[in-house]
Amino acid sequence: MSMTPELDQRSLADLFSLSGRVAVVTGGARGIGAATVKRLVEAGATVYAADLDEGAARQLADAFDGSVTGAPVDIADSASLASLADRAVAEHGRLDIWVNNAGIYPTTGPAIDAADDFVDRLLTVNVRGTFAGAREAARRMTTGGVIVNVVSTTGFRAAPGISAYVTSKHAVVGLTKNLALEFAPLGIRVVGVAPGVIDTPGVQAQLAPLKAAGLDVEATMTRTLLGRAGQPDDVARVITFLSSDLAAWVTGEIVAVDAGSLAG
Ligand SMILES: NC(=O)c1ccc[n+]([C@@H]2O[C@H](COP(=O)([O-])OP(=O)(O)OC[C@H]3O[C@@H](n4cnc5c(N)ncnc54)[C@H](O)[C@@H]3O)[C@@H](O)[C@H]2O)c1
Repeated sequence: MSMTPELDQRSLADLFSLSGRVAVVTGGARGIGAATVKRLVEAGATVYAADLDEGAARQLADAFDGSVTGAPVDIADSASLASLADRAVAEHGRLDIWVNNAGIYPTTGPAIDAADDFVDRLLTVNVRGTFAGAREAARRMTTGGVIVNVVSTTGFRAAPGISAYVTSKHAVVGLTKNLALEFAPLGIRVVGVAPGVIDTPGVQAQLAPLKAAGLDVEATMTRTLLGRAGQPDDVARVITFLSSDLAAWVTGEIVAVDAGSLAG
């Protein structure tokens, strides 16, 4: 008989705690990834902030007292994902939480003009990078774990001018469900969050040309059902909940974090 108390016998604080768990966040240097690193640490985890921009990841890690490691990764390179997962296990003996957050959303334009190289690059990073991240994590989660995919509301509906991105996020919705099915026998939950527009460096960079053309970008971002723009921490809090034992019976599900934008 298991010595672990039943879930309904554990306190809320204990169920929420990530103490003793080892987590990896890809794209962890800024935006939603950096906010997630901060919340996972606050919940007690030891965290790898892994990013293409290793310098920025290390800088973020410096702000914590040893509980965050800044690490290099390129999610378009599966060997680099495998090395990252190996490193977490070598340094801590376990891997419990893997957040597939890194992704790209370059300005696209009409699908009718899209070049193969552009589509290939977007799908390689956003889809294969998420697939390979989940696979490399699962191979090393020997006592179970949680994989969280950062999807998008565009994983559920169309948006003009960003066909390759929308394709990539719809693919990650399917991937999340299928991996939940395949990894459940390994004790691994696979879940996702679908952010609406969140004020991050990546979004600001994409909106810069519109701003320059006179659009009041801040006002547009504020126009949500809840009356304010989405912040990285809005997403990070939900990722933290999904990563915890509070969500122990949730898998194959993608939670919208969008101030109701999918609702209408
Ligand atoms: N911000 C939004 O409005 C929004 C909405 C829906 C979904 N998302 C998704 O959330 C995730 C993060 O978005 P964000 O706005 O915080 O992005 P961001 O551009 O602000 O930050 C992304 C981070 O990922 C890193 N990165 C990019 N390519 C990488 C690669 N190949 N390997 C490793 N790291 C890489 C970047 O260096 C950067 O630090 C993405 O998957 C994005 O599609 C964002």
